[in-house]
Amino acid sequence: MKIAICTGGGDCPGLNAAIRAVVKHAKLNYGFEVIGVYDSFNGLMDRPIQAKSLDFEDVTEILWRGGTVLGTYNKGSTYTGHGAEKRLQLTAEGMKLLGAEVLIVVGGEGTQSMAQQLSEIGVPVIGIPKTIDNDLPGTDQTIGFSSCVDLVADSVMRLHSTAESHDRVMVLEVMGRDSGYIALHGGLAGGANVILIPEVPFDFDKIYKKIMYRKSLGRNFSLVVVSEGASEKGGEAIYSENSSGSKNLGGIGQRVARKLNEMSGMETRVTVLGHLQRGGAPNAADKLLATRFGIHAVELAAKKAFNRLVVLKNGAINDISYKEVPAHARRKLSLDDDVLRAAESIGISIGR
Ligand code: F6P
Repeated sequence: MKIAICTGGGDCPGLNAAIRAVVKHAKLNYGFEVIGVYDSFNGLMDRPIQAKSLDFEDVTEILWRGGTVLGTYNKGSTYTGHGAEKRLQLTAEGMKLLGAEVLIVVGGEGTQSMAQQLSEIGVPVIGIPKTIDNDLPGTDQTIGFSSCVDLVADSVMRLHSTAESHDRVMVLEVMGRDSGYIALHGGLAGGANVILIPEVPFDFDKIYKKIMYRKSLGRNFSLVVVSEGASEKGGEAIYSENSSGSKNLGGIGQRVARKLNEMSGMETRVTVLGHLQRGGAPNAADKLLATRFGIHAVELAAKKAFNRLVVLKNGAINDISYKEVPAHARRKLSLDDDVLRAAESIGISIGR
C-alpha cells in the first residue's frame, strides 16, 4: 500500500512527530510506502508533483523539531472560489499519478474541511487534528496546543516578576482566533489575575475592580491575559492588516492596556506573543499525542477505514467520520467548561 501524507494550515509544534510516527509504523509493521507531499495540497496540484518517498533516514531526528519538514500553506481555502473544481480534480489526479491509496492530512479546521471536499470527490483521506488554537470540533485536543500553553504559562510567569518590581499592569495578548483555549489554559497555568476570552465579552469595570481589589491587598501589580479574538461587551474583535494586505486578529492588547491605564492611572505594558506560540520544539505531551495520532492513522489506512478523522476522546485515541465534523466549524469554550470554572473559582476575573 502507498500512503501519502501532507501538513496544511498554520504550522505548530508536533507536526514532525506525527510524520515520523506515520512513516515508522507504516514501514516497520506493514511494509507500506509513505510519500510526503510538499506544501499542503499544493504538492499534488503541481506538475511535476512535489512529493518525496519518505524513508527512515528522512524522519530521523525530527521528533523534537518545530515546524514541518513537508512545508505547509495557510492562505485561505484551496477548493473554493474561481477554479476550485479544477484544483480539486488536479489534486485527485495527483494522487492517481502517485499511485497513493489514501492521503493522511495533518491539519486544523480549514485543512480538514478541504480534506472533506476531497473525500466527497472520491479521494480517500484520513485526518490528524493539529492547531495551537485547539478549536477543531470532534477532538478534545489537537497537536500543538499543549506546547503553546506551556509558552503562554511561562510568559505569564516571566511577566510576574517585572510587573511586581514596577507596580505595573502587564497585558499579554495571545493567539487562538475565536476560541479562548490558549488564553484560558495558559493564563490559568501561569497565574494570571485576569483572563479575557472571545466566548465571554468583557466589562472594563469588572477588570478595574479586580485590579483595585488586588491593590487593596497590597498587590500593586496585575497580570492580564487577553485572547486576540476577545472583545468588550457590545464591541467588536480588533483586526490589524498584515504585509500581504489581509487582516489578522490583533490589537486588543493595546486597547485593554490603554483603557486600564485611563481608569486606574497605573502604568501598563503590552506583550504580543505572536508567532512565538507556533514556533519551536514540541513539549513531551505534544510529541506523545502526535505519535499516538500518527499510529492510529496508519491503522485506519491498513483497515481501509477511510474518510475518518483521528481524535482524542476522554483520554483515548479514537476516530470519527468526517460527516460528524461540520465543515468550517470551530470549537469554542463552553461556558460551563471545568477549566473556566476552575479559573473563576480561584478568583481569576474573566471580566464578567
Ligand atoms: O490558527 C493558528 C493561528 O496561529 C491563529 O491563532 C492566528 O490567528 C493565526 O493562525 C495567524 O495566522 P498567520 O499564519 O496568517 O499569521
